[in-house]
Amino acid sequence: MAFPRLVLICLVFLSFSFSWAAPAPSYQSLLQCLTKTIGSAKVSSIVLPPSNLNYKSVLIARAHNARFNRPTTPKPAAIITPLEPAHVSAAVNCSQMVGFQIRTRSGGHDYEGLSYVSDMPFVMIDMFNLRDITINMADESAWVGAGATLGQLYHNIFSKSPVHGFPAGVCPTVGAGGHISGGGYGTLIRKFGVSTDHVVDAKIVDANGKILDRKGMGEDYFWAIRGGGGGSFGVILAFKIKLVPVPKTVTVFRVERSLADKGTDIAFKWQSVAAATDPNLFTRMLLQPVKIKNKPSVRVTIMGLFLGDANGLVTLLNKDFPELGLKKQNCTEMRWIDSVLWWANYEIGTSPKVLLDTSNKDATKFVKRKSDYVQKPIPIKSLESLWKVMMENGEVGLTCNSYGGKMNQIKETETAFAHRAGNLYKIQYSLNWNDPSKKTDDNNLKQARVVHKFMTPYVSNNPRRAYMNYRDIDIGTAKTWSYAEGKSYGTSYFAGNYDRLVAIKTKVDPKNVFRNEQSIPTRK
Ligand SMILES: Cc1cc2nc3c(=O)[nH]c(=O)nc-3n(C[C@H](O)[C@H](O)[C@H](O)COP(=O)(O)OP(=O)(O)OC[C@H]3O[C@@H](n4cnc5c(N)ncnc54)[C@H](O)[C@@H]3O)c2cc1C
Ligand SMILES: *[C@@H]1O[C@H](CO)[C@@H](O)[C@H](O)[C@H]1NC(C)=O
Ligand SMILES: *[C@@H]1O[C@H](CO)[C@@H](O)[C@H](O)[C@H]1NC(C)=O
Repeated sequence: MAFPRLVLICLVFLSFSFSWAAPAPSYQSLLQCLTKTIGSAKVSSIVLPPSNLNYKSVLIARAHNARFNRPTTPKPAAIITPLEPAHVSAAVNCSQMVGFQIRTRSGGHDYEGLSYVSDMPFVMIDMFNLRDITINMADESAWVGAGATLGQLYHNIFSKSPVHGFPAGVCPTVGAGGHISGGGYGTLIRKFGVSTDHVVDAKIVDANGKILDRKGMGEDYFWAIRGGGGGSFGVILAFKIKLVPVPKTVTVFRVERSLADKGTDIAFKWQSVAAATDPNLFTRMLLQPVKIKNKPSVRVTIMGLFLGDANGLVTLLNKDFPELGLKKQNCTEMRWIDSVLWWANYEIGTSPKVLLDTSNKDATKFVKRKSDYVQKPIPIKSLESLWKVMMENGEVGLTCNSYGGKMNQIKETETAFAHRAGNLYKIQYSLNWNDPSKKTDDNNLKQARVVHKFMTPYVSNNPRRAYMNYRDIDIGTAKTWSYAEGKSYGTSYFAGNYDRLVAIKTKVDPKNVFRNEQSIPTRK
């Protein structure tokens, strides 16, 4: 008699203790906590449950990869759209108390959707309302809200001064919050480094819901959010950045070559020229699978931005890269802000005002990206093998972005962004498609992996480096957030900086409040 009763008691106790230890987080309790903290009027204007009429449109407004915008994709239990720092703090405090995971989204360009998808019950803090940009021309600096886009930043700088700019990404709808914390590179990288290199202060909400600036967070914490990514350390409210000087006139060009027209030689030579030439010249090489007269081939395109006039550019390239055959008529002189539009594929003459357009044109675009760093030129023979692999896997394009210049002068440990001297260029493998079928997904993801695998002997190794802002979950994910698990993607993204990031994470977020599939783990 006694025995079954004991079992019964144990079962009752177990189920009780289970539900006591891990109650399913409920939207109602989140609402109660938020109401207590910031008042019901504020709550009703910033908290969107799935039943809210605006929930769907807000969710999609900054979901830039249709792979994570399917009916089956897990959705947040609530979207919180803070209007002021205290709302972010309340969201962090209450989500933790109730047991929701937190995903923070600024521009929503995470290639794996980690800012708006989680397989745990979660709330999304969507930062788009915190997008103030305040420019101070006296000390050539700016405070940039995490929810501002790069386009808004570039436009605001331009409206104050045509000879100032900021080294950051090419796509105008990318958000400051994710971009700057993860590095941030663009066409000024060889002259000025990455965005992170120009951050002089920041405001963050930490795991305790405290609002800290650089002084409050301390130099270790401040170091970690410059390149270590946003998802691991808190919710960034704003960055203070230093602007950089740009000339009144810059020059752009674009040259296309087929393989029949010495494309392979051009691609080979580009690899050693691009990282060694004058830092005023940034070039990008596109390698794209194409069909020429119905037969698969590869097109080699070189695009460039020169911080100077067309004469200067032609003189430089005739010295460093005569094979390209660049003439003055192949160049277009313009203002720096117009070059921003040019790189973003706008027609020459488009008004800079389009940079203020934050509408999401990617909502139905399916994408996959991977990355690599190349440290010695790939030989001609191997390029020819690459062309073959690209023709067989006809969806994968390679965008090669030159390094060198300023990047060689900044130590790997200066910020958490570790990819510095020794890299000739970074490759972005890219695939875009429109067909929502699972089969196309599988096929394209497979193609990306095949080409990436083929490249193994030609790219950095031990660790095989990758750019965190080109998020790629193929390189490893955390399930228990152990040090060893994190090491797979952590050393790819951060090389020797991984250990310091783990130490800082352990100190500032010991309960691992801010986490995602590729966040920095804590270590006991
Ligand atoms: C079309 C396109 C073009 C791109 N072009 C470039 C380019 O030219 N150069 C380049 O370097 N990169 C480029 N990227 C990559 C881009 O820099 C990264 O995706 C970057 O992380 C995006 O920032 P986000 O705020 O838009 O993204 P989100 O998806 O909002 O965030 C990305 C990551 O940062 C975290 N995060 C976001 N906001 C905060 C915050 N306020 N506080 C804490 N954590 C936060 C998110 O949780 C997520 O983990 C491009 C991406 C796309 C889709
Ligand atoms: C969140 O909690 C911290 C204490 O950890 C407190 O200082 C802060 O004021 C709280 N935030 C809000 C909005 O109440
Ligand atoms: C440069 O322009 C000329 C004249 O428009 C054209 O014939 C030539 O092909 C261009 N050269 C390159 C390298 O694109």
